[in-house]
Amino acid sequence: MKHLLTLEQLSPTEINEIITLASEYKKELKKGIPHKKNLNGKTLGMIFEKSSSRTRVSFEVGMYQLGGYALFLSSRDTQLGRGESIKDSARVFGRYLDGIMIRTFKQSDVEDLAKYSGISIINGLTDYCHPCQVLADLMTIREHKGSFDGLKVCYIGDGNNMANSIIVGALKTGMRVSVATPKGYEPHKHIIEFANSFDGMFELTHDTVSAAKNADVIFTDVWSSMGMEDEAELRKKAFKSFCVNKELLDVANPECMVQHCLPAHKGEEITEEVFEKHAGEIFDEAENRLHAQKAVLYLTMKD
Ligand code: CP
Ligand code: NVA
Repeated sequence: MKHLLTLEQLSPTEINEIITLASEYKKELKKGIPHKKNLNGKTLGMIFEKSSSRTRVSFEVGMYQLGGYALFLSSRDTQLGRGESIKDSARVFGRYLDGIMIRTFKQSDVEDLAKYSGISIINGLTDYCHPCQVLADLMTIREHKGSFDGLKVCYIGDGNNMANSIIVGALKTGMRVSVATPKGYEPHKHIIEFANSFDGMFELTHDTVSAAKNADVIFTDVWSSMGMEDEAELRKKAFKSFCVNKELLDVANPECMVQHCLPAHKGEEITEEVFEKHAGEIFDEAENRLHAQKAVLYLTMKD
């Protein structure tokens, strides 16, 4: 695995291998055992064209714990922010670094970086997908539930980058998926096509209660993602009834988990009550970003 650009590129076996290695790293870290699978002497560039708390900190700490080094490259302070092309930047950074994690808008920029840099590229979120987050989410589900067998995942809200990656990750690991979005805010058409190829495993609806029925895991995410700030008021109206609340949890399975990639807008996509009741699972999910990404870093950047 040279790059992590989307979850579509990973086989179910590879997803499970990443989670297994991530769990090993987590155990070693908690016991203070040095990681034998390390990236001693390797350097990761971290390009951010959007804000981040979790992704930035977990990648930087992850590289440090693996024996490598990470550089924060805000697009505001590099020539990327002044219009230097991705193609040229890729060919420069490829001469200095062993890998790049990039958070940006266009998925094609991440693909171009992979095409022209000659080094490992990891997608730290685009408008299209958020693969690192969903690997951590899958790890959290496997930890809490023991396996993916027979589980139903539900996603309530915007058909955004998170919805796209959750659908792919959950279907690939054998879970059923039910998604409820307002009309006009459905997931990407390629994702719907992909999901429909999993016979009877995927449901897309505009009815939150039917999506949440018998769910084992309920996901949600913000109504307006980064870059959509101009639409925020319009979206508040469209998404008004797309809130993960007690009524939805009441129709889900009794042991239903709640996952949120964070940051959360409590009172919008999730109630404070549900968030706090499931805070343990949600912050396990945030923690697992570190462990899952260390596995991705190692598998993409090792010699
Ligand atoms: N969930 C997530 O990617 O968080 P950040 O935007 O803080 O990195
Ligand atoms: N959908 C959100 C996820 C943030 C981690 C966004 O793109 O802003």
